[in-house]
Amino acid sequence: MELYRFLQQQGFGSRKECRQLVEYGLVSLNGEEADNYRLPVSPEAITELVVNDEPWPVLLGPVYLLLHKPADYETSHKPQHHPSIYRLLPYQFKNLDISAVGRLDVDTTGLLLLSNDGQFIHALSSPKKQVPKCYQVTLKHPATDELIQQLLNGVYLNDEACEFAADTIEQLDSHRILLTITQGKYHQVKRMVAAASNRVEQLHRLSLGELQLGELAVGQWRFLKVAELAAFGFGQAPL
Ligand code: URA
Repeated sequence: MELYRFLQQQGFGSRKECRQLVEYGLVSLNGEEADNYRLPVSPEAITELVVNDEPWPVLLGPVYLLLHKPADYETSHKPQHHPSIYRLLPYQFKNLDISAVGRLDVDTTGLLLLSNDGQFIHALSSPKKQVPKCYQVTLKHPATDELIQQLLNGVYLNDEACEFAADTIEQLDSHRILLTITQGKYHQVKRMVAAASNRVEQLHRLSLGELQLGELAVGQWRFLKVAELAAFGFGQAPL
């Protein structure tokens, strides 16, 4: 593969932009500046790619990312009132058609998965997959036994034919619970809590399946590890 094609595959932009990066002397491979954009390269053999003085991890397949979503960011490529979560990622990922797996509301924080693997996004968003999602929910009114029981038994949501129940609930303190659901309906947690006569003040997603948000700082992202991807039933190494 020629170098400019490889740069395109890494998300560095159009054919013209990638050719120019090389022509302007901004690309180095394995420590050596490249001066020919038609240089034949084999991606597996590139251990160090630096573009415009920034090292870039060579991507050999689809990309799987975990983002700690901050509040006041929209999970949308075309945000209306707040910045897009995609602004928190390197621009190269935007060129690689990365999309979020499901959505978090603008005021919801926490774990958000992103990928450009259509099968992965589809599989994890599918209701059949039943991936448990755990949220820390801060409530306006106290978390009474009655509220917890109602959420565990199931509540009716507007425009939905059946009841929706939490899989598990753990009470953290008077106003905070950990709530796990397996579906992913629009505003589901907020609507369930409202249907049980309380109100969500803050919503923070801690985990998706076995994947934990962990210590990742707000607004930061990282690649999924091979084992984390495997836990979702996907085998390909992220890098
Ligand atoms: N449920 C909600 O109500 N909002 C979210 O962002 C996620 C789940």
